[in-house]
Amino acid sequence: MSARRRAAGRLQTGILPGVSVPPFSPQPEITAPQKTRVLLLCGGQSGEHAVSLMSAQSVLAALPASHFEVTPLVIDAAGRWLGRADTARVLGGAQDSAAPVSSELRPYEVAGFDVIWPLLHGPNGEDGTVQGFLTLTGAAYVGSGVLGSAASMDKVMTKQVLASVGVPQVEYRLVTRQAWRSAPESVRIAAGSLGYPQFVKPANLGSSVGISRAAGPEDLEAALDLAFSLDRRVILEAAASHKPRELEVGILGNDAPQASPVGELRFEALFYDYTTKYTEGQASMHIPAPVPAEVAIRVRELALTAFKALDCAGLARIDFFYVEETGELYLNEVNTMPGFTTTSMYPKLWEAAGLSYAELVTRLVELAQEER
Ligand SMILES: Nc1ncnc2c1ncn2[C@@H]1O[C@H](COP(=O)(O)OP(=O)(O)O)[C@@H](O)[C@H]1O
Ligand SMILES: [Mg+2]
Repeated sequence: MSARRRAAGRLQTGILPGVSVPPFSPQPEITAPQKTRVLLLCGGQSGEHAVSLMSAQSVLAALPASHFEVTPLVIDAAGRWLGRADTARVLGGAQDSAAPVSSELRPYEVAGFDVIWPLLHGPNGEDGTVQGFLTLTGAAYVGSGVLGSAASMDKVMTKQVLASVGVPQVEYRLVTRQAWRSAPESVRIAAGSLGYPQFVKPANLGSSVGISRAAGPEDLEAALDLAFSLDRRVILEAAASHKPRELEVGILGNDAPQASPVGELRFEALFYDYTTKYTEGQASMHIPAPVPAEVAIRVRELALTAFKALDCAGLARIDFFYVEETGELYLNEVNTMPGFTTTSMYPKLWEAAGLSYAELVTRLVELAQEER
C-alpha cells in the first residue's frame, strides 16, 4: 500500500452532533517521487571497451536526476566488475552526472536496482552472455534478451534468420577454422564462387576488428588467418558493390517498434574499417540520408522486419548497403547495443525524429520496465 493510501485510511469522520466544522482537508503529504534506480554496466571485454565508456559518460550526464539514481559499474578489459571507487577512477569526469551516483557496490551485485543497462558492445556484452546473467537475476534490463542479442551478434546466424523472412542480403559462405586447417583448397573454391572483391569477417566481432577486404584470391590467406585468430567461425561475403553507400536506421520499442529517419555514413576509405570508424573527422553523418523517398521507406520496413524476426527489444541500429546504380538494398548487420554518445548515429537519428538524447535514454529505461 502506498504512503498516501495508508494516510487516507487513518482519516476519522466522527463529528459531534450539532457542531459544524469546516470540511477536513488533510495536509497534502509531501512524498518525493520514487526514483528509478539504474545500474549502468559499461566498459567490457571487447575491442569496443573505450567506446562503451564514452557512451556511458553521455548517458550518465543525461538521465534526469529528478527521476533516476544511476550507479555506473565498469567491467574492465579482463572481465572484472569494478567497485565504486575504481569505476569512478576509470570514468573520471563522468562523476559530474546529472543524476546522483549511489554509494558502495560489490562486484556482480545487481539486486536493488530497478533497471540494468548493459551499455556494452561486442562479445561478452552485446552477444547474449551478460543478458543471460541478467535474466537469471530476474532484473529488468535495457535492450534485447538472450536470443535477440546472440542471433544479432553472429553474422551468419543473422543472415540465416533474415533469409527466412525475405530480407535481401549479400551472398556469403560460412567457413570454420577446422575446415581452413584441414581442407584449405575447398575453402579457396568456396571463396572463389563469391567473386572479388569480397569481405572476410570473424562471425562474432564488431568495430571492423579482424575484417579484411580481399581484392583477389591472393589476399585470402592473410585475411582468413587474421579472422581465424579471432573466431572459430568466419564469414566470407560478396561485396555489395565496389563501394556501396551505407545507410543506417534506428529502431525503438518492444512489441510495437518504430523506425527513425534513415541516416547515411560517408567516408573516403575503401570501406568503413577500424581507423575510419574511430579517427575523428574521417567519416561524416548525413541525416536524413539524401536518398529517394522509396529507398528510405524500404530501409525502414526491412529494418522493422529484421528487428521482429530476430526477437530484438528496446533498441537496435540496423545497417544497410545501398547500390545507387542498380537501386539494390542489402541489410548488412543489426547492432543491438549501438554506440551511444551524444554524437553517435543512433541518438542522432532519434533527435532528427524529435526525441532529445535525454528523452531517448528515459524512454529506453521505461521500455526495459515494460512487461515482455
Ligand atoms: N559485403 C560487403 N560489401 C561491401 N562493404 C562491406 C561488406 N561487408 C562489410 N563491408 C564494409 O566493412 C564495414 C564493416 O563491416 P561490418 O559487417 O559492418 O562489421 P562490424 O560489425 O565490425 O561493424 C562496413 O561498414 C562496410 O564499409
Ligand atoms: Mg558495421
